[in-house]
Amino acid sequence: MKPEVLLMGMMHPPTMESLEAAFTLHKVPQAADREAFIASVADRVTAAATTAFKGMDAATMAKLPRLKLISHFGVGVDSVDVAAATARGIKVTNTPDVLTDDVADIAIALLLATVRRVCGGDRYVREGKWPKGAYPLTDSVQRKKLGIVGLGRIGRAIAKRAEAFNMTIAYQGPHRKADVPWPYYADPVALAKDVDFLVAACPGGEATRGIVSRAVIEALGPEGVFVNIARGSVVDEPALVAALQDGRLGGAGLDVFASEPRVPEALFALENVVLQPHVASATHPTRRAMGQLVVDNLAAFFAGKPLLTPYN
Ligand code: 8YV
Repeated sequence: MKPEVLLMGMMHPPTMESLEAAFTLHKVPQAADREAFIASVADRVTAAATTAFKGMDAATMAKLPRLKLISHFGVGVDSVDVAAATARGIKVTNTPDVLTDDVADIAIALLLATVRRVCGGDRYVREGKWPKGAYPLTDSVQRKKLGIVGLGRIGRAIAKRAEAFNMTIAYQGPHRKADVPWPYYADPVALAKDVDFLVAACPGGEATRGIVSRAVIEALGPEGVFVNIARGSVVDEPALVAALQDGRLGGAGLDVFASEPRVPEALFALENVVLQPHVASATHPTRRAMGQLVVDNLAAFFAGKPLLTPYN
């Protein structure tokens, strides 16, 4: 008999196939009555798999007294109540490392696309405007200073790429890192004042909510560009939209938003923004590797082996 897993959210097809092959899945998204369905399996389920979108809150954990593992698809576990899980002795696993390079690539793509107005240039050609005149000149990323909010694995991968574009680096985070040569700022406003571009690469959740505040956005200024591949929660989104509209912020490249998949419509009309539908990790090889980690952590748990990527 295959081990039983409570599936909180559907995953991409290759991951679903691997999960179906290894486990008996109880699929919450397919239940007509979510609460009754969870109650019907609560005395058997010891492991769950979830996604960034569905997460797992403390109330759901409380309904699953035998739960010991939440295998999460995604590096950011802000939609899982990790404190509640830890208090209940539930282990949480996530999917770090395998997505780092793809996410860092999109951060740089968004920075280049925003600064060099790549999407505007594309529209200019498609709309037949080129024969009527040359496209306006843009700023350059060369020899600029990039501030990174959150110098974790992804932040470091962004720094490495930015250096290849001759940018200098500075960073903000809860702690100074002993192993990097770049200037550290405890205060995100002070960092924003000193850099040309700012990228958010920190975890989401309460500790970083609104860290890219109105004051940070003002400090970045009319020539500044903000890139977000972290979470919509890390930025004061209404302040960001207003600053972009008024030209108090030069531009923004955004992969994540406060209320995904809803995006503030005011952004649609702006030439100084590049928008992506939360795709930084959305490549075939990376999503496959993330899914494999979800499966492998579940398999390790049921085999009594050490978890591959424990978070708590
Ligand atoms: C995914 C992500 O979009 O890893 C994360 O934290 O935000 C992305 O890789 C997400 O996990 C999909 O559920």
